[in-house]
Amino acid sequence: MNEPISGPAFFIGKGDDTLISFGSGQPDMPPPIEAFNILKTYTRFKYGLIQGEESLRAALTPLYPQAAAEHFVITNGASEAIDLVLRVISKQGAKVLLPRPYYYSYPFNVLFAGMEPAYYDLDKDGKIDFPAFEKEVERCHAVLINSPSNPTGTVQEVETLKKIEALCERLGVWVISDEVYKDIIYVRENYLLQGPRVVTVNSFSKTYAMCGLRVGYVYSQNKELVDGIIEMKTHTAMNTSIVGQMMALAALSSPRSYVAHNLEMWKERRDLMYDGMLELGLELWKPEGAFYVLPKFKDSGRAVSDLYHNYQVITYDGTWFGAPNRIRFSYALDASKIQEGLRRLKEFLGKEHASY
Ligand SMILES: Cc1ncc(COP(=O)(O)O)c(C=O)c1O
Repeated sequence: MNEPISGPAFFIGKGDDTLISFGSGQPDMPPPIEAFNILKTYTRFKYGLIQGEESLRAALTPLYPQAAAEHFVITNGASEAIDLVLRVISKQGAKVLLPRPYYYSYPFNVLFAGMEPAYYDLDKDGKIDFPAFEKEVERCHAVLINSPSNPTGTVQEVETLKKIEALCERLGVWVISDEVYKDIIYVRENYLLQGPRVVTVNSFSKTYAMCGLRVGYVYSQNKELVDGIIEMKTHTAMNTSIVGQMMALAALSSPRSYVAHNLEMWKERRDLMYDGMLELGLELWKPEGAFYVLPKFKDSGRAVSDLYHNYQVITYDGTWFGAPNRIRFSYALDASKIQEGLRRLKEFLGKEHASY
């Protein structure tokens, strides 16, 4: 019997030459050369400031209007940022509103913080249905917004995001805006959510292809929140890797052409993937950002298992993202592998899947 596939942990870090992995969402290109260059002369290995290196925090300020270095905490990726924010704002049993489909860690993060996830469904175009959001938000302590979204690849309308800002400010609800894909948008510039209740979470993982270095951050103008995060981080992970932070600082100062060039490449892969899937007769949203597609799939759990065991193709079951009967494909792999993966998928659809 085949080993059961219980969740993303089964696949994370797996990979060899026979496998085509549409699984994990990590860029396959190298970080900017400037990030490597610092290593030749790097010598500091002592504990660093819990809040994060002052130089890195200062270098982030131009990205946010009216920001100062003290408004940032550098974290172990966006993952730690989300965890710390939720635990610092936590009220036992309070509700945190999540879009469905959602990034698979969100419900766990909310539960680990002693709160309860509440959900609203994205509409048929993968967009926020504002009336559905409005109905749920009144009874919530916080909401998580993720635009561009993992796993839908959709980008939310600016008008909707502005309405969310205003409504949450009026209700006194925290808005945690997870913008880790803010530099991978095909349809417009990123819209930065703003306001006294908005907490921005970001990362160097996707923009600068530095997933394994674990550098991300929280940005908030709320001093009490920032102090609470520093206090919690002092007694948990302590400082984020300082060499990782210095590589992140060097990446930030690399020419903007690095990000622009990668965006072109993401777009080419998006087209290859989206067109290829349409040709296979699959139903899916056209990605407007990030690097995922989420086609509908009959019996997604069985299909993920068969694709892996019989075709050596890694994919993620939509059920893990609150989207049963869909499968998430990441297109963070080169064009030739995407083509080979689509070829195997075609074979699977024509043979096994047809008989489900
Ligand atoms: C929406 C979203 N948020 C957060 C993360 C975590 O990113 P990091 O590597 O910065 O912890 C990911 C990673 O895939 C993600 O897709």
